Amino acid sequence: MDLASRFSLAGKVALVIGGSSGIGREIALAFRGAGASVVPVGRSEAKVEEVVGRLRQSDAAAAGHAVDVADIAALGRLVDQVMARHGRIDVLVNSQGITKLSKAEDFAEADFDRIIATNLKSVFFACTTVGRHMLAAGAGSIINIASIAAFGGFRLTALYTMSKHGVVGLTETLATEWATRGVRVNAIAPGFFITALNRDKMDPERRANAIGRTPIGRFGELDELVNAALYLASPGASFVTGETLRVDGGFLAGRF
Ligand SMILES: NC(=O)c1ccc[n+]([C@@H]2O[C@H](COP(=O)([O-])OP(=O)(O)OC[C@H]3O[C@@H](n4cnc5c(N)ncnc54)[C@H](OP(=O)(O)O)[C@@H]3O)[C@@H](O)[C@H]2O)c1
Repeated sequence: MDLASRFSLAGKVALVIGGSSGIGREIALAFRGAGASVVPVGRSEAKVEEVVGRLRQSDAAAAGHAVDVADIAALGRLVDQVMARHGRIDVLVNSQGITKLSKAEDFAEADFDRIIATNLKSVFFACTTVGRHMLAAGAGSIINIASIAAFGGFRLTALYTMSKHGVVGLTETLATEWATRGVRVNAIAPGFFITALNRDKMDPERRANAIGRTPIGRFGELDELVNAALYLASPGASFVTGETLRVDGGFLAGRF
């Protein structure tokens, strides 16, 4: 395979849940740049349409979906619609995620249900619902967006941190179960990237703490993150499964 083909997504269909904002949006646009037909998903119709507008600059047929994937029946209908339209899904990205800062002892049951439903339950069912089609086709690549919070304790984010530990456990388990059946399952652990998820939670103290604990000494730029997703989605990563690729400016390497 020539070098360009190794990292090309030409002719592939990519479903990018959370593709309407932040990390997922940047991945959706990069996958389009690599040749894929991209289907972005988010809750807000306006945000989905903004990304679809960008995709249509090079793919007139591009379409997205405004769906709350924490509703597992709605997630199932979404996958049915994408399969009906495209006939297959080659790449699935799970970039949906929410968080809330609180002392652990102050979280309510409703917080637990809301955060786990989006960050973990919807990721599990997106992987298995799309995974069944990939297994039937004998090919596919799934990329789950985890976090550096999958590798240790983080103050004030008990539910988010639990969910991200779960995402890595899920990724490794599915990779192990599906490895001989053509479906690769990997994750990316981003360090600190300023997006809608955390912009209003970064007071000067948290901001200084995040940068101070990142050996490279700054926040990441989204275009530094998408290359990891391009790689994991591409034929160039055909022997890579069960990996959680850290894109964190050295945060985890330097945490001790
Ligand atoms: N930013 C960071 O520093 C960082 C670091 C580590 C990990 N991550 C992870 O990266 C992923 C993306 O985060 P981000 O920073 O890009 O945040 P973001 O800009 O807020 O994007 C989150 C995306 O998920 C969608 N989403 C959330 N809940 C959903 C639901 N129930 N159904 C469908 N879509 C839903 C959002 O759509 P709506 O806006 O319409 O709700 C949006 O498109 C998350 O899993 C996050 O935990 C981020």
